[in-house]
Amino acid sequence: MSMNTIEENRSRNLLGDRDEVWLFGYGSLIYLVDFPYLESKPASIEGWSRRFWQGSHDHRGTVENPGRVVTLIEQPGEICGGLAFRVEAPVFAQLDEREKNGYLRVASEMTFDDGSNATGLTYLASADNEAYLGEASEYEIAQHICGAQGPSGTNSDYLLELALALRELGLQDDHVFEIERHILQIQEQTTPTSR
Ligand code: SIN
Repeated sequence: MSMNTIEENRSRNLLGDRDEVWLFGYGSLIYLVDFPYLESKPASIEGWSRRFWQGSHDHRGTVENPGRVVTLIEQPGEICGGLAFRVEAPVFAQLDEREKNGYLRVASEMTFDDGSNATGLTYLASADNEAYLGEASEYEIAQHICGAQGPSGTNSDYLLELALALRELGLQDDHVFEIERHILQIQEQTTPTSR
C-alpha cells in the first residue's frame, strides 16, 4: 500500500451520509487533540492491542530514519482502551492529512464506560503499508525511539506523552509502560549528571 493514504481514505466512503461519527483514538489522537470535536469520552475496543509497530516518516521520524508509533494489532480477547471523539464528518479531511503515513479509516465497534456501544471509525496501519516496521522487543523499540525525531517532535515525547495520557485515563498498557520504563532508563544513562 502507498505511503500516502489520503486518496484511499477519501474514496472508501465509510462515513455514508452521516453528519457526525465517533472516532476511536488510541495513540497521539488521545493527547494531541488539534481537531474540532463535539464531545469526547473514554472508550475501548475488543479484540485489539496497541503496539509500537508502525513506522513514522512524517511526524516522529523521517523516511531515512523512521520513528515508531502505535497501530492496532488484532488479538482475540484483548481490550484496547482509548478516547473517543464525536466529530463532524468534514473533520475527517483534516484527520486523513494527519494520519496519511499508512493509516486507513476502518469501521470500529467501541464500548463506552457506561456499557453503551457505537459503531464509528478508527485509523489503523496494517502490516501491508510501506511504513510498517512490525514486531520487536520492548527494549529494542525503546532504543529505536530514543534515536528518532521528526517534524512533530522527538519520538520519545510521543511515547512519554501517550503513557501519561493513558495513566490519566486510568488505563493499564503493559507494552507501552514497559517501553516507557526502558526509555527513562536510557535517558538517565545518556544524560550527563552535574557535579
Ligand atoms: C490514534 O491515535 O488513534 C492513531 C495513531 C496516532 O495518530 O498516533
